[in-house]
Amino acid sequence: MKRTRGKKGRVMGRVMDQKALADIRNLLKGEPRTRDMLIEHLHKIQDHYHHISQSHILALASEMNLPMAEVYETATFYHHFDVIKEGNTPPPSLTVRVCDSLTCEMFGAKNLIRELQSDKSLKVRIQPVPCVGRCDAAPVAVVGTYPVENADAVKVKNAIASNQTEADSPVCISYEDYKKDGGYETLVKCVNGKHDREDIIKQLEDSNLRGLGGAGFPVGKKWRILKDQPKPKLIAINIDEGEPGTFKDRYYLERDPHRFIEGTLIAHWAIEAETIYIYLRDEYAGCRKMLEHELSLLKKNPPCELPPIYLRRGAGAYICGEESAMIESIEGKKGMPRLRPPYVAQVGLFGRPTLEQNMESMHWLRDIIEKGPEWFASNGRNGRKGLRSFSVSGRIQKPGVHLAPAGITMRELIDEYCGGMLPGHEFYGYFPGGASGGILPASLADIPLDFDTLQPHGCFIGSAAIVVLSNQDNARTMALNAMRFFEDESCGQCTPCRVGTAKAVKLMEQKDWDQPLLEELARAMEDASICGLGQAAPNPLRCAIKYFPEEFE
Ligand SMILES: Cc1cc2nc3c(=O)[nH]c(=O)nc-3n(C[C@H](O)[C@H](O)[C@H](O)COP(=O)(O)O)c2cc1C
Ligand code: SF4
Ligand code: FES
Repeated sequence: MKRTRGKKGRVMGRVMDQKALADIRNLLKGEPRTRDMLIEHLHKIQDHYHHISQSHILALASEMNLPMAEVYETATFYHHFDVIKEGNTPPPSLTVRVCDSLTCEMFGAKNLIRELQSDKSLKVRIQPVPCVGRCDAAPVAVVGTYPVENADAVKVKNAIASNQTEADSPVCISYEDYKKDGGYETLVKCVNGKHDREDIIKQLEDSNLRGLGGAGFPVGKKWRILKDQPKPKLIAINIDEGEPGTFKDRYYLERDPHRFIEGTLIAHWAIEAETIYIYLRDEYAGCRKMLEHELSLLKKNPPCELPPIYLRRGAGAYICGEESAMIESIEGKKGMPRLRPPYVAQVGLFGRPTLEQNMESMHWLRDIIEKGPEWFASNGRNGRKGLRSFSVSGRIQKPGVHLAPAGITMRELIDEYCGGMLPGHEFYGYFPGGASGGILPASLADIPLDFDTLQPHGCFIGSAAIVVLSNQDNARTMALNAMRFFEDESCGQCTPCRVGTAKAVKLMEQKDWDQPLLEELARAMEDASICGLGQAAPNPLRCAIKYFPEEFE
């Protein structure tokens, strides 16, 4: 690791502000100064001062023995850190984040932002932000960390006036209650040798459980790969949930956190891993409080010997949901995806073989083992197997997470689970897999929704985030919204994605789309981007052109 300290009290030729250094030492107390703690420490500064000054960056770099440029670059990568250059004015201490992603735009986010920004009596910062994972209650504003659902200007101003700025901890099934209901017994059986590792992996394979973070890689197969990797191995659980339209992980986490923790501990036993890291998006501040509490209860009175479990906090960057970017972020770096191979299963966190799984993938473990793999696989429709947690939002009567058979069609989902369309709205189209998964017209509402079934139509199910559009919406506006999101969230590492998304936004803002040029851009992004963000970014654009031609006449 490079040393940046030269003469006493100077870093990279800059004079150290002793007060800033004392501030940092006071905040960090006895916590480790290791590189992987950088983002955690930046959060402490941001939380305390509501911004991060240049002198605090300098002091933190000195304290952690890191080059200042590296601390600066990392801090400025993440949207939730307000890095303020010397002489610049820090933002107001309270920020109101208003989601302007797909569903929130449909439900009036733009007007809400305009109304709040134009009220000069508000001494707060109003910031448009991407999806905050509460699309079933769109539009959503977050005052400090307090979420205001079905927001309007009055509700937001009331929260500000009454100083309601902190997220509440959700009321979940507690550790005690979870145990009373047989929780952690399956884990204890595993650890005590009553289950066989090979047998559990076989059960997972038979259940047909696929990774529920978006890519759908079979869970049993991934465990088998990891089981054969050399020790030490690590586990990283992905609760970054940033795909616009997705809120299923939050739904399960808020209600039943120990279920995914037990699943994760079973994975830890099955692949003989060492340490567990849980990466939780920063937007889920209430869940963080709750999870910290529940983990402390578990560690205080464990059902069996536990491995180290670390909870790590994202910092407002969608790309950190991508598995290799998440690993970089846990290591305390900018969340930039890695080139593969090597895959994270071989060379992952801290260079070790790493099992990375979506939180919901782990949620189903206990049920699959207790009820048998055939229970999970016996669900399904139209020739598909398993269950899917659909996050459904948009113009339906009952938005929310609907647990339904894999392979259900959109029409069936709306009729049987979502209570039909909202009054006065006629079904027009849908995003089957969040912003990345493309847009389909109502005429294609009878395709089974599952992994692999939508690709022939230029779409994918991803994390099963469905946004339902009606005749009051249009696909080209939604496709532009999605492309703006990709432009904002592109990590900038590769040109096709960085430049392609920006150029596409410019072209899509025009009244007449230059369709041949957009297609050329789409092909470059799809073929030459390093990761799934750039590769999937053209999906909504292409679908708008292909399935909604009347909007361009
Ligand atoms: C741009 C991008 C964003 C992603 N975001 C998430 C996410 O928020 N949560 C998640 O679990 N997986 C996300 N993924 C998928 C992960 O890369 C990875 O496949 C997943 O975490 C593996 O777990 P699983 O097999 O249990 O699904 C994302 C992928 C890409 C390309
Ligand atoms: S595709 Fe986009 S997000 Fe992915 S590595 Fe390239 S620039 Fe970054
Ligand atoms: S919370 Fe606004 S789109 Fe998800």
